[in-house]
This record gives sequence, structure tokens and C-alpha cells, in this order.
Amino acid sequence: MVSEKKNFNISPSSPIIYLPFAIELYDDVLALWQQCGGVGLSGADARESIQSYVARNPGMSFVATADGSVVAAVLAGHDGRRGYIHHLAVHPSHRRRGLGRQLVDKCLQVLRDAGIQKCHIMIFNENSEGINFWKSVGWTPRTDVSVISKSIEPADAGDR
Ligand SMILES: CC(C)(COP(=O)(O)OP(=O)(O)OC[C@H]1O[C@@H](n2cnc3c(N)ncnc32)[C@H](O)[C@@H]1OP(=O)(O)O)[C@@H](O)C(=O)NCCC(=O)NCCS
Repeated sequence: MVSEKKNFNISPSSPIIYLPFAIELYDDVLALWQQCGGVGLSGADARESIQSYVARNPGMSFVATADGSVVAAVLAGHDGRRGYIHHLAVHPSHRRRGLGRQLVDKCLQVLRDAGIQKCHIMIFNENSEGINFWKSVGWTPRTDVSVISKSIEPADAGDR
């Protein structure tokens, strides 16, 4: 857990260490996501779901730590065709120091190594700071596509 140490007490000069995401870090990462506006959490972010996602996309998700605490995190993966980055978050105490850019670069490198040629993110339209970040690191908002979604309810017994 991030626990008593909390990211807030970390010296800004503490060295940043980048690590692959491991499920043992889940509680710390969830706490970070919960503290960061702009990260939309749902049942798909339960421990088992994240464990499954990372197992399907090994070595593609990362955290950044300082003094042993998680200060930034990102999930990445692909479907064999396109790459996707989810839930990039940097603790407010460590923003504008290049951690976000570094984590995105790491994700793109492993996706590139897997033969993936394009990566997408989804971001809330109201998250103007986040959109500015993505533009600054070379990403292009699409005006020609929309996200269209449908929840898939579990089939009831009568459908089986
Ligand atoms: C978006 C976020 C991940 C950026 O992380 P970060 O580590 O601060 O970003 P970086 O330091 O790597 O910034 C790289 C560049 O992006 C731009 N940028 C970053 N944050 C910005 C902001 N709030 N407004 C405008 N531009 C910004 C800058 O050009 C910056 O370079 P500079 O500091 O040399 O000017 C972070 O603000 C965050 O966690 N936000 C909340 C969660 C969120 O919205 N995530 C995105 C969901 S997809």
C-alpha cells in the first residue's frame, strides 16, 4: 500500500524508478487513480480484471516509484492490431517533471516491439489538461471518429 508514507511526503529530489506493473502494486495504483481526476474507474478496474489485463499484455504496463511509493502509473496493451493506453496518471506532487511522457514512451516502445503501428487512447472531452498533455507529446485528437459503446450483460440461464 502507499499507506502512511503517502506520495505527498516524497522529496521532489527522490530518484524516480520505472518498473513493470505487478499485481502486488494494485492497491497503490488504485489509490493513485482515485486521487487523480480524469481517470474513469469502473468494475473493469477491479483487481481481478486488472490482473487479467496485465496477464494478456505482459510487460506493457508500468509504474514510476519514488522512495518506494507509486507516483505514476499506466496500463497498455493491444488486440493484435492496434495498441491502447489506459489510465495514465501522475500524482499531483510529481507532475510537469516528464513522468507522463516517460511512461507513454515506454508503452509505445513495447507496443512497437510487438509490431503494433498505431496506438489509441480514450479521454473525457472535459479533460482539457489531459488533452493538452497528449497534444504536447505528439498525439493528434481525432475529429473523424466517435466512441460508440454497449454494455454486455451476462446471459441469463434461459439464454444458455
Ligand atoms: C496528464 C498527466 C498524466 C500529465 O503527466 P505529467 O507527468 O505532468 O506530464 P509531463 O511532465 O510528462 O508533461 C509533458 C508535456 O505535456 C504538457 N502538459 C503536461 N501537463 C499539462 C497541463 N496540465 N496543461 C498543459 N500542458 C501540459 C507540457 O507541454 C509538458 O511539457 P513541459 O512540462 O516541458 O511544458 C497528469 O497531469 C495527470 O495525471 N492528470 C490526471 C489524470 C489524467 O487526466 N490522465 C489522462 C487520462 S487519459
